[in-house]
Amino acid sequence: MPAHFITGSQTYLRGLTRADLPALLAWTSDREVTRYLYRGAFPAHLEALERNYEAMISSPAEEELAICTCRDEAFIGVAGLHGINPVARSAELRVFIGEKQCWSRGYGTEASQLLLAWAFEVLHLHKVWLGVNAGQANAVRVYEKVGFVREGVLRDEVWRNGRYYDAVRMSILATEYRSQRGQWACAAKLATQFLS
Ligand SMILES: CC(C)(COP(=O)(O)OP(=O)(O)OC[C@H]1O[C@@H](n2cnc3c(N)ncnc32)[C@H](O)[C@@H]1OP(=O)(O)O)[C@@H](O)C(=O)NCCC(=O)NCCS
Repeated sequence: MPAHFITGSQTYLRGLTRADLPALLAWTSDREVTRYLYRGAFPAHLEALERNYEAMISSPAEEELAICTCRDEAFIGVAGLHGINPVARSAELRVFIGEKQCWSRGYGTEASQLLLAWAFEVLHLHKVWLGVNAGQANAVRVYEKVGFVREGVLRDEVWRNGRYYDAVRMSILATEYRSQRGQWACAAKLATQFLS
């Protein structure tokens, strides 16, 4: 098994492997899991996931990591930085917990925090942004909790579940991350990994 890349209190992130893709296929084929996603209106295909995986591992602008639980090393979702822009020093954050029994246990919050620590402490990014379906209250709550602020609303951006939803564009700057990271439950773990 690949080594832990970033470790928190409840979860750790490690490099995604080809062996993870069948689980990803099962999650992205489950309408309950994809209920609020921008993507997900078309069936998932293992071959497409494999092509995306190959493209991701050969691109310096894309990094998708596996989210695993510390307790039993279960693979429960993915978290990544996309479109890493070395000039503006920005990237898009995406977090996806595919194992439904793992929702609402704080894993999405911690995975976002671990990814932000990597983005700001190691990659030296200036800004991390995301887009979220405004109808997905738990996701909006997770991102607000870790310090993302709302930049604007994209009206009727998402068509899912027989209706349009607005999308919210959110972001966090490096200075904002630094003022919050000390209050996170995983702060001590992050400090041992990233701060001298
Ligand atoms: C959205 C997602 C990332 C959230 O991760 P998670 O591990 O379930 O979330 P957490 O347990 O860390 O936190 C959820 C928070 O939302 C709150 N919450 C749950 N339901 C809520 C609701 N209906 N309204 C407002 N807040 C809600 C919880 O109370 C918790 O906040 P708290 O810690 O202050 O109590 C995850 O559920 C997921 O990936 N779902 C399916 C795929 C998906 O849509 N991902 C895309 C996200 S953009």
